[in-house]
Amino acid sequence: MSKKDNFIKDINNGYLSKGDSITLGGAILDGEAIAESHVKIPLKTLNRHGLIAGATGTGKTKTIQVFSEQLSNAGIPVLMMDIKGDFSGIAKEGKEEGFITERHAKINIPYNVSAFPVELMSLSKQSGIRLRATVSEFGPVLFSRILDLNDTQAGVIAIIFKYCDDNKMPLLDLKDIKKVINYITEEGKAEIEESYGKISTSTTGTILRKIIELEQQGGDLFFGELSFEIDDLMRIDENGKGYINIIRLTDIQDKPKLFSTFMLSLLAEIYQQMPEKGDAPQPELVIFIDEAHLIFNEASKVLLEQIETIVKLIRSKGIGIYFITQNPMDVPSGVLAQLGLKIQHALRAFTANDRQAIKKTADNYPTSEYYKTDELLTNLGIGEALVTALNEKGIPTPLVATMMRAPQSRMDILTSEEIEEINGKSKLVKKYSEEVDRESAYEILNKKIEEATQVQQQKEEQTQAKSSKTEPSTTEVVTKSVLKVVTSATFIRGVFGVLSKFLKK
Ligand SMILES: Nc1ncnc2c1ncn2[C@@H]1O[C@H](COP(=O)(O)OP(=O)(O)OP(=O)(O)O)[C@@H](O)[C@H]1O
Ligand SMILES: [Mg+2]
Repeated sequence: MSKKDNFIKDINNGYLSKGDSITLGGAILDGEAIAESHVKIPLKTLNRHGLIAGATGTGKTKTIQVFSEQLSNAGIPVLMMDIKGDFSGIAKEGKEEGFITERHAKINIPYNVSAFPVELMSLSKQSGIRLRATVSEFGPVLFSRILDLNDTQAGVIAIIFKYCDDNKMPLLDLKDIKKVINYITEEGKAEIEESYGKISTSTTGTILRKIIELEQQGGDLFFGELSFEIDDLMRIDENGKGYINIIRLTDIQDKPKLFSTFMLSLLAEIYQQMPEKGDAPQPELVIFIDEAHLIFNEASKVLLEQIETIVKLIRSKGIGIYFITQNPMDVPSGVLAQLGLKIQHALRAFTANDRQAIKKTADNYPTSEYYKTDELLTNLGIGEALVTALNEKGIPTPLVATMMRAPQSRMDILTSEEIEEINGKSKLVKKYSEEVDRESAYEILNKKIEEATQVQQQKEEQTQAKSSKTEPSTTEVVTKSVLKVVTSATFIRGVFGVLSKFLKK
């Protein structure tokens, strides 16, 4: 058999799947697309996560577009973190042009244009579905991250959350948590000290200042009700296509902490809410995280461990997460090791560092008798990528250079009129733009604080009546209770310390 025949046999065997699959493109050998060999990914393994990497302009965004289209066609909804705002065109039909016809002739896949059902979402004032979360849902770990707090300050935040949990006080927006902070340094000072230890007013002062900073950066826009219900991400349209939910982040591009933390809270929420799926034939939702390095940048060791945990566990809930980044080394090795599908576009070798990264990347791929991986990594054309996936048995498929198919939808962004049209038709835009009476949430909290004060007063009267007992020293109280609070809060809230929704009701 010739080399080509062997290649066709190996690839076709390697990418065989009994169940349904999506086709990404055609296999390439010695620079030529091979019409007989297609690169297919089984739907069953799409919850095993993945990575899409490559230098700028090599075709990552178009690959995600193609990938999302195929998922939608298979009835799988998609969530896309669109940081650069170049993804909206998927809502409209594409246009067949010469270079597309040519590409599809080479890979021997019929081409037709198609539009896909899209929902546009926003974390800010931009038009679209308003994504919001309550402070309670955010949990102490992520709330501390978004405020950039040190360990001592984060410890105080943990106490505040614990205190609010214990007293069934929902923290909806920033106004709520400011109120609680004021309370625990004034009227509630004695009560807090008794149960949770001494809290320094200079620490609460710093936290308050940072909350005000966050408000000024627009954080007040996404903390509050109506908080987003994750079921709304799992929609299928009347033709059986999965919805493509695009979170447009262009207007907060300069606030990476804001949206990367929001993303983590959303992941935690999804994890918390979704039931176990077991061995499902296809995922419930596939999430693409563009500019993934922003999520890992400056993440503390604890947070990284929690991200690793969530990536590991969310799989069994039928959720696939795909990280997109220029350099695969941006993704921590603990996460990288859990990614089943790798789509590696070309890398550029400008510096010694680049060459080292290429060498390392090549070493991370299965060896292949058909390719010199490190050389190929710099020689791949635009819209071509090295692919390895998991087969239905969970075994890595052979490495294959792939000419990706072209998007069926528009390879350009929507006009503002088109965006308005989509938002105008969306039921979800109406649902989430409805004004929830924030004032009343604040009042509920105020009332609860008042009640808590009354209870506390009664308690104090009772305690006074009893004989006094020996008190431990202040430092002892602080360390003990902070430890207790942090561990129990972590335990109660699970991953990222997100609180289940019961407090909202
Ligand atoms: N699968 C494809 N089919 C047809 N053309 C493609 C394909 N992939 C890439 N291209 C062409 O290459 C261009 C750049 O691709 P793309 O925008 O996806 O790059 P990128 O890697 O996302 O770049 P950046 O890092 O700058 O975001 C596209 O505008 C398109 O013309
Ligand atoms: Mg791109």
